[in-house]
Amino acid sequence: MTSPSAHAVRQYASSTGRLTARMAIHAYGTNPQDWFSWLGERLPLAGRVLEVGAGTGELWRRVRHDGLELTLTDFSAAMCARLASVPGARVRRCVAGALPFVDGSFDTVVANHMLYHVDDPAAALRELARVLRPGGRIAVATNGLAHMTELRELGTRIGRPDLIAWRGFTAGNGPGLIAAAFSGVRVEEYPADLAVPSVAPILAYLGSMADEPLTEAQVAAVEGIVAERIAADGVFRVRKHTVLMTATR
Ligand SMILES: C[S@@+](CC[C@H](N)C(=O)[O-])C[C@H]1O[C@@H](n2cnc3c(N)ncnc32)[C@H](O)[C@@H]1O
Repeated sequence: MTSPSAHAVRQYASSTGRLTARMAIHAYGTNPQDWFSWLGERLPLAGRVLEVGAGTGELWRRVRHDGLELTLTDFSAAMCARLASVPGARVRRCVAGALPFVDGSFDTVVANHMLYHVDDPAAALRELARVLRPGGRIAVATNGLAHMTELRELGTRIGRPDLIAWRGFTAGNGPGLIAAAFSGVRVEEYPADLAVPSVAPILAYLGSMADEPLTEAQVAAVEGIVAERIAADGVFRVRKHTVLMTATR
């Protein structure tokens, strides 16, 4: 199965709101260069470029793409409606595991923070290889298991371990899965953590992850724990672990 996971359907199928709320916390990143700009500098951008699971298209709102033949896809109707406002992009609604493109259609394929939402990432990677021309490049970004450790611990402390549970495609197993369909896999880490100065962005992030909303008691518990940490350290620190993996078809 290469369809979106049940979690991805709940998170993204009918609204862009959860993704937008979740991305907002990265404004408190400790790297002065934001993730999209860092990623854009490293992408092999030439000719025909496909992004699968493109979400709201944030990458292409920040990275210049004039001169490219850019195709953006996502399984979610809500995301595709938003992608339609990316200047110069062609938008197709489809799942990453069954792309409506003939073999060798693209010079570069990007899968940014989306393969962990696919039931069978190995099969999806084979599909991405199929639509790349021989010698074409793939760029895949994902997180490691330690990503957002402090937020996961926060969830556990308030009795909501369901809020953050990374699984599937990670910085640990990603290179091996990519190597099964591509050659010359390279891994680069984006150096950044979060230094969050107040509780609101943390509650917004946790809320975006929750299928069941946080109760009043859980919100109060988060406020207490975060306030204590900020009083001691000045900020609430959160570890990030984000990697970019590139390879050749
Ligand atoms: C975490 S968001 C990342 C969005 C975008 N790539 C970014 O980094 O801003 C994951 C996106 O993948 C999409 N998605 C999840 N599973 C998918 C699948 N099997 N096929 C296509 N899109 C999928 C979701 O709808 C969502 O927009």
